[in-house]
Amino acid sequence: MKTFEEIFKAAPTVMAEAPGRVNLLGEHTDYNGGYVLPTAISQKTCVLLHPNKRKSFRLYAATLDEIVSFTMETPPKKHFASYIYGCLHEVKAIGADIPFMDIYVHSTVPIEVGLSSSAALEVATLRALRILLQLPVEDIMIAKMAQRAEVKYAGVNCGIMDQMASSLADVEHMLFIDTRTLETEVLPLPADAEVLVIDSGISRTLAASKYNERRAECIVAAQQLGVEELRDITDPNLTNELPSPFRERARHVIKENNRVLAARKGISAVDFGQLMNASHTSLSQDYEVSIPELDLLVALLQKNKDVYGARLTGAGFGGACVALCKTGTVCNVSDAVLKLYNEAGNHGKRLVPAQELIAEQITTEQSATKIH
Ligand code: GLA
Repeated sequence: MKTFEEIFKAAPTVMAEAPGRVNLLGEHTDYNGGYVLPTAISQKTCVLLHPNKRKSFRLYAATLDEIVSFTMETPPKKHFASYIYGCLHEVKAIGADIPFMDIYVHSTVPIEVGLSSSAALEVATLRALRILLQLPVEDIMIAKMAQRAEVKYAGVNCGIMDQMASSLADVEHMLFIDTRTLETEVLPLPADAEVLVIDSGISRTLAASKYNERRAECIVAAQQLGVEELRDITDPNLTNELPSPFRERARHVIKENNRVLAARKGISAVDFGQLMNASHTSLSQDYEVSIPELDLLVALLQKNKDVYGARLTGAGFGGACVALCKTGTVCNVSDAVLKLYNEAGNHGKRLVPAQELIAEQITTEQSATKIH
């Protein structure tokens, strides 16, 4: 991989990182003012900056080995650059003077699978700009600016979960977020449990159009129920009189919010797993954002004796599934499940824990064995 110095013939002034995230519970609730429970993953995006003496910004994406130039008035022609372009505009909007600069991005966050590679890119960019320009913005503000950048400049009508998670979550905890008030609470992960994420190998082609359709359906459901947002209702029976599909959509959101609130109280891994299983059934049957491959992968995970619970994670229509496994079993679970899933003609692969982390763990264990 080429370095910053090799590309730009200068050394970077600042460096900042931000992680991807996996959502454990609370799917399709954030744009309804509801509750979510993500955790950060070990894969990160790293952004390096250096003011240049040109009349344009230069952006190099190491993972793609692509370089693009742009100014604030002439947007970049490459989609990956629009996230950074949006962040620069959000920083300008709070009154900062932005010098032209060279920007280098390197990321290990898997893209297009529902692990928030775009939020990681936005948050890392804003963190780097915060350092370079000494911006008085705290982490929640970073998340808000990142979300605005994505909606306005990358054209994705997302909620705020991903940016809040990338800005505030860490890998050792789960982060409860009230997406209406942006109140957060750092919570321990369920005891005796480890997180496993597997990619279904199916790209999320329908995700954008269906995501917008679900958002619109939720707005109609809230109007018909006479509330500002579905978050304002806690009793799922109130949806009984709604016509289909608004009844099912609202029922999912209300029950999903209740599941997050139950998990927030601190429950066993067994109970947490049950909530994940119920969440998947609801996402598949009521919210209709699953596909046969995700259902198969989730069913295989749920059948494994070392799995407490499993569900699709992110927007759906492809991408990844998350499972809560007994401590120390993630690799065996992942191997066993992937064997069956891929024998059925699929191309699944493990994303969390990342392969390189496991390699590191094995090396540490081997040297520990040698020393003793
Ligand atoms: C995507 C969006 C989030 C959220 C999830 C579904 O990841 O970016 O805001 O709506 O889908 O829970």
